[in-house]
Amino acid sequence: MSDREFSRERQIEIYVKGLSGKRSKVPVDMKALEEAAQAVMSEEAYAYIAGGAGMESTMQANRAAFERWRIVPRMLNDVSTYDTSVTLFGDTLPGPFLLAPIGVLDMAHKDADVAVARAAAEEGIPMIFSNQASAPMEDCAAVMGDSPRWFQLYWSKMDDVVVSLVQRAENCGCSAIVVTLDTTMLGWRIRDLDLAYLPFLRGRGIAQYTSDPVFMENLIKEANNTGRSVTINTLKALWEMVTTHPGNALNNLRSGEAIAAVQTFIATYSRSSLTWDDLAFLRDHTSLPILLKGILHPDDARKALDYGVDGVIVSNHGGRQVDGSISTIDALPDIVDTVGVAIPVLMDSGIRSGADMFKALALGAKAVCLGRPYVYGLAAGGYMGVREVIRNFKADFELTMRLSGCRSVDEITRDALKYV
Ligand code: FNR
Ligand code: LAC
Repeated sequence: MSDREFSRERQIEIYVKGLSGKRSKVPVDMKALEEAAQAVMSEEAYAYIAGGAGMESTMQANRAAFERWRIVPRMLNDVSTYDTSVTLFGDTLPGPFLLAPIGVLDMAHKDADVAVARAAAEEGIPMIFSNQASAPMEDCAAVMGDSPRWFQLYWSKMDDVVVSLVQRAENCGCSAIVVTLDTTMLGWRIRDLDLAYLPFLRGRGIAQYTSDPVFMENLIKEANNTGRSVTINTLKALWEMVTTHPGNALNNLRSGEAIAAVQTFIATYSRSSLTWDDLAFLRDHTSLPILLKGILHPDDARKALDYGVDGVIVSNHGGRQVDGSISTIDALPDIVDTVGVAIPVLMDSGIRSGADMFKALALGAKAVCLGRPYVYGLAAGGYMGVREVIRNFKADFELTMRLSGCRSVDEITRDALKYV
């Protein structure tokens, strides 16, 4: 129990700055935060981060569904002492959230994953390293001290690469492996299609692969560019590729290694043939807890239990994969009812406030993952921007919890909500 009121500290921190005429360049308001990020990003970067699949109706549903659940606060409970922490796989988190795995963070800010890692560690919030990161997981782990971190895996067509990535995650001190199941193919993302821009084709977001000895040993050697017209733009894309690739740009151009890495990545990054029985392979190669991300159907949650996984993340990938999908807050209760307390259920997609976190916890989530908001914080303010966003969510959640009459996350139960 703590009586060091974090929310009050955060409010005072902001208002005292205001006394000397200073306002943060990282707005607290989510819409203003997104706009601040958009203002400093390229059109392509903003489209990639903000966009979703198809008509983006899943993204809208994620938000709309939160609105239908309303909190019913309770009065005259002594909330002068309180505890916002949760314990997950042996780590104690100061608030019930983690940073979702987000790829290609260098689209938001040059300091990318390493800035996020530093911020997460300073705030004691776990970062889930993306398999599509802009920086190798080792670089992030190096700035995190003992702070918790997890690794998110995209199951490559090359089993040896899967094993290597998971071993590296263990060596980096990760507490869990998150297998993302919903992105065996990239969704139909209209904003990216209309800008004809995919970062991976330019060698961005593949740093976990280009830093992987097993992947680099298996590069497809037949770089084949014949038959394509060379324009200034092709040269620009090529330059982006060779400068993003580790090592000297000219050597990368001469050796063809950067192009080969991109081609190998495209050919192997994900396996749409994956089935439940493949999970045993992963189990054999890591002693870390395994969570499945992208679960939306209660029967899949039951299967997750049957197959011995250690947790599920209810997610629709922030609406980036299946347009017209169920929102995650609507999917959550049935999944919680199916899984019971056997394994932790986490959720993400559309979390934009402390109230959203409270609602997810009330419906049985053990914790949530924060996605786009911290990326917008990164764009708008680099390392400090991510910290500010984390601090805002911590404060907002704490206030929502206490003002609703709850002293700890265990006291947040379904009867704190009404469905309208
Ligand atoms: C993602 N997400 C994601 N998930 C994952 O497992 N691996 C990844 O590399 C990525 N990359 C990624 C990039 C970008 C730009 C976005 C916006 C999202 C999905 C992410 O982990 C999470 O599920 C969503 O971001 C949650 O939705 P909101 O709350 O951000 O809308
Ligand atoms: C995405 C992949 C990287 O959503 O997960 O773009």
